[in-house]
Amino acid sequence: MLFKVSPSLVLFVICWALATAQQTKLQAIECPFPEGQDVASETECGKYTACEWTNGRCHVVDAHIGGYQVVGDPVDTGRGFRVNLQKIDPNVTMFGGDIINLIFEAIYHEAYHVQIKIYDADNARYEVPVPINLPASAEPNPLYTVGVSGNGDTFHFNVTRNSNGRTMFRSMGPLTFEDQFLQFHTWLSSTYLYGFGENTHTSFRHVFEPRTTFPIFARDQPVGTEQMNEYGQHPYYMVVEDDEGNSHSVLLYTSNAMEYSTFLLDDGTPALTLRTIGGIIDIHVFLGPTPEETNVQYATMMGYPAFPPYWSLGFHLSRWGYNSTTGVREARERMKAMGIPQDVQTMDIDYMYRQRDFTYDPTNWADMPDLIQELHNDNLRVTLILDPALVIDFDNYPPAQRGKDADVFIKWSDKALVPADQEPGTDDYMVGYVWPDNKTIFPDFLNPDAQAWWINELKLFHDILAYDSIWIDMNEPANFGTNLDKPWNWPPELEPWSLKCPDNALDSPPYPTKMIRVGDNNSNKISDHTICMSANQTDGTTTYLHYDVHSLYGWSETVATFQGLLEIFPGTRPVVLSRSTFPGSGQYAVHWLGDNSADWEHMHMSIVGMLDFNMFGLPMVGADVCGFFNEPDMEMCARWMELGAFYPFSRNHNTLGMQDQDPGVWPEVGAISRDTLLLRYKYLPFLYSLFHKAHMHGNSVVRPLLNVFPNDLTARDVDDQFFWGSSLMIAPVITQGATSRDVYFPEGLWYELRYGVLTATGPITQTVNAPMEFIPLFIRGGAILPWQEPAENTELSKMNAYGLTMALDATGTASGEIFWDGGDGEHVMSEAYMSHLNFAANALNMTIMHGETAVSGLNLETISIYGYPSDPTTITVNGDATGVSWFFDNVIKVLEVYLNVPLSQNFIINFN
Ligand code: NOJ
Repeated sequence: MLFKVSPSLVLFVICWALATAQQTKLQAIECPFPEGQDVASETECGKYTACEWTNGRCHVVDAHIGGYQVVGDPVDTGRGFRVNLQKIDPNVTMFGGDIINLIFEAIYHEAYHVQIKIYDADNARYEVPVPINLPASAEPNPLYTVGVSGNGDTFHFNVTRNSNGRTMFRSMGPLTFEDQFLQFHTWLSSTYLYGFGENTHTSFRHVFEPRTTFPIFARDQPVGTEQMNEYGQHPYYMVVEDDEGNSHSVLLYTSNAMEYSTFLLDDGTPALTLRTIGGIIDIHVFLGPTPEETNVQYATMMGYPAFPPYWSLGFHLSRWGYNSTTGVREARERMKAMGIPQDVQTMDIDYMYRQRDFTYDPTNWADMPDLIQELHNDNLRVTLILDPALVIDFDNYPPAQRGKDADVFIKWSDKALVPADQEPGTDDYMVGYVWPDNKTIFPDFLNPDAQAWWINELKLFHDILAYDSIWIDMNEPANFGTNLDKPWNWPPELEPWSLKCPDNALDSPPYPTKMIRVGDNNSNKISDHTICMSANQTDGTTTYLHYDVHSLYGWSETVATFQGLLEIFPGTRPVVLSRSTFPGSGQYAVHWLGDNSADWEHMHMSIVGMLDFNMFGLPMVGADVCGFFNEPDMEMCARWMELGAFYPFSRNHNTLGMQDQDPGVWPEVGAISRDTLLLRYKYLPFLYSLFHKAHMHGNSVVRPLLNVFPNDLTARDVDDQFFWGSSLMIAPVITQGATSRDVYFPEGLWYELRYGVLTATGPITQTVNAPMEFIPLFIRGGAILPWQEPAENTELSKMNAYGLTMALDATGTASGEIFWDGGDGEHVMSEAYMSHLNFAANALNMTIMHGETAVSGLNLETISIYGYPSDPTTITVNGDATGVSWFFDNVIKVLEVYLNVPLSQNFIINFN
């Protein structure tokens, strides 16, 4: 029996069909083995009382044997309800440490949002301390109903959508709630599953056949095609439930190591297993019902994305291994010589003195202040990298000494764990080794004292080098050689040494997740490539185990760095580029997708990663253009520059020891990059308005086709095309040697962006030409995109004349908007300019909502109308034909209008 508990706590009973047939289906719910499924055998399976061997499979026992039962009736909490659960048989266990008494709680938030918590009834356990936004009271008329089994019954719960009665979440099999192993399973409404990260996804849509398991835990793990956990933790997914496109999303709010497994039950029903190794079960369900609405709802809880300053939407050039100011100047000269737009020059760790934060190399980078001045004179901004780990050299390295004075470094969780060979003066700090030529210690960015110390260091550093933004790298946090003989870069003249983690429950948990078996996890431990889990951190009040807060390291460093930049540049919008992220990071961070390779498949994966991060509320994202590891050939770099010109965060970056790959290296790539980046710069006003929406409402910036066309089944599998917003479709060539590609055009009219040729009337898949210098770009009928004459940087382009690209739909209408606020500074909505554009019945109306003064001096000078039927006889602006001219191309039906109208006044343009 299952009680459906509605918000008004009216209980009614429905049948919970746990027929024998279903038991057979549940044989597909696999038992986890710490060593992986390869060891599965009847004997291994027999070691777990919670598992059973049937037909060659080791699967979980039935819920009424291995799970919990409901004890008592639900209690109204005023905000939902709560009910007690009890383990049915304490002797049935996976790894031991079962919590016998649990509480199941449903908490009602917005009408579209319900939270489910399952936690220890008797003892407080770790809960994620990252703040979230919840409404003060439950909104009336929820879109959902939460159901839970009745008193005495085996525990199950479900969440259904009231509008159509469909189930979104239905627990299956036994709930496992042990001290270090929590596991539950849910039926899924379809296999249209997206999200989860940060992972090496080779497709946007998830795979159920064969069964697919990915770990999640922040880790210094380069891109690859194996199923691996990477830099951040985003336990968030979205499911499109039905053909109409109804969608919901789910956050499993945990920062503990975890994994998810997608598979089919024996009757073909899609299912999901979620496992985590600490904390509680804390789930948030968002009911959309459209995919894009789930994004907005999730971002509303986790915090809306930062509004990037306009300059940061320009092109960023970077590499590790410029090796000197000369290297930077040479790359910069190549850009200038070829007229390739650039707004940011980034410097990697080679600028540092012995790879120490807050220093610069007095030999090869001695004139770095001059270099920064030169770049500033060119209207460029400068990004400098910082790593979290600080070298232990207290006497000669003041940042470390000041940090020690403020006691800001991460400590062993128990003084008894401090190694016998602890570095002098490091007390009970955890000591590791990263880039500098000596051992390091790690700031605890959760600690308010550490935040204050870091902000002070950022300020002192800015007095030395006038940087504009900060790149925080290695913040998983990464440590080299953990548990091994020595780090790979350990000085050869020294005795081998490395950070060794103890063999205890934290560093060798009973189920360390799949992460220990994937990627370059050489020590097969959860602490591989990072610091030990047996460490303490503090937020000044509560002490946390690194085991629990590991994946918050990057988030906490981002918050501190963002705050520091706000103090250094008051009234501006900080740019913090972070490798490790967590839900909520989007309020502060720009993210790149980490160490990829010059590889065509990685180019494709970058689109998937970008779509994932737009779901995660981090729309300012991109991958290392032309690849980080290895060397691209001319064709690959050209194609990647074309794709990268449409990453929200557009940066070419390269690793040490490789040939230069900045776009100016090859004349062909230089020319292609110039043209494509000029196109990006042209449409930056449109991109900027999308970021404004993201910041105000939580929308995505880059969108998968399914967000724009949720009921188009074909669109749900397309991940080699993407949208800027809902009207500019990008279909890059990501195949070696290709000079054409198939493009899927959803319903509507699609015009080639540059020339306005009507290319397709969807839905249809069509082959389009794409010679080497050409990236296929399409504007959707019905859209108006604002643009500005491009220039070599945004300081110049933002003063240029405006234009509009209008693509008419089948009814001859189009709409759009213009947003502008100066490009930086505190965002005050009433001062920002916003106008709505509407074309219908041969008239274009522009209506200003607010902020006229923000656009004083900016004029609209060109309008291109795609799909215009015939040559007009008159065109008037506010009834006046003076100063208006046009050209009509009767072959491709494009009308190009030249005029001069201030953006600061409403207008109506009539075409007759
Ligand atoms: C690792 C980062 O992922 C990469 O982008 C950077 O170049 C190196 N660290 C060196 O700082």
